[in-house]
Amino acid sequence: MSTGSAAFGELEAEAVRILSGSAGRETRLQALCDLLRERVPHYDWVGFYLVPEDEADVLVLGPFSGAPTEHARIGFGHGVCGRAAEQKQTVVVPDVRQEGNYIACSLEVRSEIVVPLLRDGIVIGELDLDSHTPDAFGPADQHLLERIAKGAARLF
Ligand code: SME
Repeated sequence: MSTGSAAFGELEAEAVRILSGSAGRETRLQALCDLLRERVPHYDWVGFYLVPEDEADVLVLGPFSGAPTEHARIGFGHGVCGRAAEQKQTVVVPDVRQEGNYIACSLEVRSEIVVPLLRDGIVIGELDLDSHTPDAFGPADQHLLERIAKGAARLF
């Protein structure tokens, strides 16, 4: 599909329908991952990392769509995910091969975006996307994913 703003508008509308549905939280987060990965050709891996209620400063792999990863637990500060959690801000890495603080999940991955889920200013999780395309994540992607992450954070 085209990833122009009209297509992203429709995708966001579908994400809002999922978020406001009656299924359980895990099911809704999984459906979001599947929707994004199936509909946007340059989204090759889409997943949520969640901060457990009884543990601080660690991200644990939640629902995801794409190849399985062995990186099921990531400490704050480690890799792109850990950095986004520490900074409480979206991190975009246009070329993962140039990134020093990076945890490789697959050699095919060339670029990544990580969007924190915030609740009352506290990081409760993250939406993480990998692409096999270099420099795959532009402002339209960031805008869409930040809106979806904001909606997902309201489920907690
Ligand atoms: N690349 C991430 C690790 C998670 S995988 O992309 C699924 C990082 O550097 O934190």
